[in-house]
Amino acid sequence: MDIVERIILSEEQIQERIKELGQDISRDYEGKSITLICILKGGLMFLCDLSKHLTPLVEYDFMSVSSYGDATESSGVVRITKDLEESIEGKHVLIVEDIIDTGLTLNYLLKNLHSRNPASLEICTLLNKPANRKVEIPVKYVGFEVPNAFLVGYGLDFKQLYRNIPYIFTPKPEYYEND
Ligand code: PRP
Repeated sequence: MDIVERIILSEEQIQERIKELGQDISRDYEGKSITLICILKGGLMFLCDLSKHLTPLVEYDFMSVSSYGDATESSGVVRITKDLEESIEGKHVLIVEDIIDTGLTLNYLLKNLHSRNPASLEICTLLNKPANRKVEIPVKYVGFEVPNAFLVGYGLDFKQLYRNIPYIFTPKPEYYEND
């Protein structure tokens, strides 16, 4: 695709790492069932691929949290635009995210979900971008540490597009510089 400047993580790298994460999580939750909470929209591809590798029983629920709108930097404002459908009280909850950047979204979500009394609450993120962190987040499962670059693909969008691309890339600057 013309927009691609550089592929940061190939489809093979992503899938291989997801398989390993799935094995780690399956081992840690052996004998329990897991409620996977996908944070829309970016976490969707990861949720689907990760959950194929989980051997415990799995339940899905979805939340939508708006922090960025169409901008490329966090506004720091977090708003729930779609809440869970089920109670998580007494359940083993694993939040599935595509990326942690400033940490503001998860900082808010952790507080919010803890108050609903789950049996346990952990985070699994495909990508971790520690350079931009504004608040410390306890992350149990991380796919890859990534540099502080504008990343697109595999759930991550550029103006709501390219989430379906199976690899992660940096776009050419001319595509977004004059926005
Ligand atoms: C992205 C990502 C995380 C959040 C991380 O979502 O999926 O939810 O930003 O950023 P933070 O650590 O700085 O809070 P976004 O708001 O872009 O929505 P999307 O998943 O629908 O693209």
